[in-house]
Amino acid sequence: MKNNYLQIPLLGLLVFVFFLCSCSDGTNTAQKEWVDPLNETIEQRNARMAWWREARFGLFIHWGVYAVPAGTYHGERIGGIGEWIMRNAKIPVAEYKTYAQDFNPIHYDPKAWVKMAKDAGMRYIVITSKHHDGFALFDSKVTDWDIADASPYGKDLLRPLVKEAKKQGMKIGFYYSQAQDWTHPGGAKSGYEEGEYWDEAQAGSFDTYLKEIAYPQVKEILTNYDIDILWWDTPYWMTKERAELLRPLISLRPGLITNNRLGGGYKGDSDTPEQHVPATGIEGRDWEVCMTMNNTWGYKSYDEDWKSTEDLLHKLIDIASKGGNFLLNVGPKPDGTIPQASLDRLAEIGRWMDVNSESIYGTAASPFRRPWWGRCTRKELENGDTRLYLQVFDWPEDKLLYVPVNNEAVQCYSLSGNGEKYEVEKVEEGLAVYLTDEAADEISSVVVLDIKGSPDVLNQNITPNETGALILSPEQSDLENRGYISSNHAKLIRQPEFSYITWKETRTWMEWPIEISADTVFDIYVTVATTSADNKIIIEVGEVKKEFHLPDTKGLDSFQEVKLGTINIPGRAATLTVKGDGDEWQECYMSNVELRPAK
Ligand code: GLC
Repeated sequence: MKNNYLQIPLLGLLVFVFFLCSCSDGTNTAQKEWVDPLNETIEQRNARMAWWREARFGLFIHWGVYAVPAGTYHGERIGGIGEWIMRNAKIPVAEYKTYAQDFNPIHYDPKAWVKMAKDAGMRYIVITSKHHDGFALFDSKVTDWDIADASPYGKDLLRPLVKEAKKQGMKIGFYYSQAQDWTHPGGAKSGYEEGEYWDEAQAGSFDTYLKEIAYPQVKEILTNYDIDILWWDTPYWMTKERAELLRPLISLRPGLITNNRLGGGYKGDSDTPEQHVPATGIEGRDWEVCMTMNNTWGYKSYDEDWKSTEDLLHKLIDIASKGGNFLLNVGPKPDGTIPQASLDRLAEIGRWMDVNSESIYGTAASPFRRPWWGRCTRKELENGDTRLYLQVFDWPEDKLLYVPVNNEAVQCYSLSGNGEKYEVEKVEEGLAVYLTDEAADEISSVVVLDIKGSPDVLNQNITPNETGALILSPEQSDLENRGYISSNHAKLIRQPEFSYITWKETRTWMEWPIEISADTVFDIYVTVATTSADNKIIIEVGEVKKEFHLPDTKGLDSFQEVKLGTINIPGRAATLTVKGDGDEWQECYMSNVELRPAK
């Protein structure tokens, strides 16, 4: 229900808030003194982030009125992510609002939802409190476009979930779309300038929208709910001063963790790579990959392009091996049920986590590059030794696992199996683990390897071979796959003789750490299979950047080695990146990139 919004000066707000916080949502929370994240010490920041870094794995929930059309409007399937249907189909506000009559989650079971997340091994939940369509899942005082006033359900959805999360020992946060709002007048709209809209009902001032909807609603959710995370999104039209209107509100919830999507240049606490895993992580930042299980955040009735449990688990492990968190999404239906495909995957992930979660929770990034056999996570032990969790995706046929560290091995055993002990020997390639049994888990068999002290990693930069050539294989590359549709992501295909990637999008790239002792001019050879001569690649090494055209090899089954040209590379360690380019890109297969000293 709507009432006049009172302007409360910020100082007064802080006083007012400390009173309110002690009675928010019925659970008293110890109100630690608030320190502006922009001014906190590194110790204060580490203390505030500790649970989040330990957690590694959370559940994202995208739920709202958009689940009613579920991707179809006037009988037509609307492309894109389900929660964007109003924008993508330019649905008039009044028509879109009628969908709320069918948003009636009579099967909503917050206790079961929290248990589902917990059983999957997740440690926190982030749920949409208000998405871009402006519909609030809580009873907001500044609008009637919310669950209490606009849907037959007629009451708050968030409070029971927060209460249940706390009861089951889970952290919980709210996603809030602070800028985009396609129903309240003045709200921002992707692809539109301020003052533009697709429906007259959207006309209004963005600043008025911020002051009369976004600001009071953020205050409502931070005052009335004991939440641990505020997840901003899509800061369209947000300037620093506009962000400064909202940012102080985080003081309402001491300890609150926020992300890098407020706008105004604020970085928040975490970066948020979306629908992809950074090739080698994000240096110097906390970061969290958010990802859908199919290709939509909000429910779409016909999106059955589900990632396999193996793919999702490999992503969780890959992310943890690079030091990041994984926020995996479900999109519930209007009746409050969750698609069975999502439930199945979470249950299967949970079975793996039941046995292996210590190799994820509280771990840090691998001390060495992605090994061919899988990934690695690690923990520092109290005595200063290091525990490596060898995440073996591909169990070596010769039962020999090479770990590129020079340390002395302390112990080695199977975590996923029955604790089988393994012998370890120092060899030229570092440590050789003699596996004596078969893979205990078909998705990832975890082997614990404790080593003395801190990891002493072998130099893993790729250096020239005896002929002076740099052999860069997809097998040894770090692969970055951007883009929403996971079936368009590049896949690494291993053949007995060579490896290659299936390369569908230019947003995919490969990179390798290389090291040469002197500036060198190289001839560039690539082994590719293409179906057109329109594909361009860009090879970058530091400041050196060169573009080359790939030839048409007349088919994806016909690999050819071609010389593209030359490149002058400085004599030092660097990262060499090969990216696709051009609007005419056609899928191709890319095998080795070889740099041979120019004749
Ligand atoms: C994008 C989409 C939004 C979704 C978010 C999740 O920003 O605009 O709909 O909620 O990704 O990260």
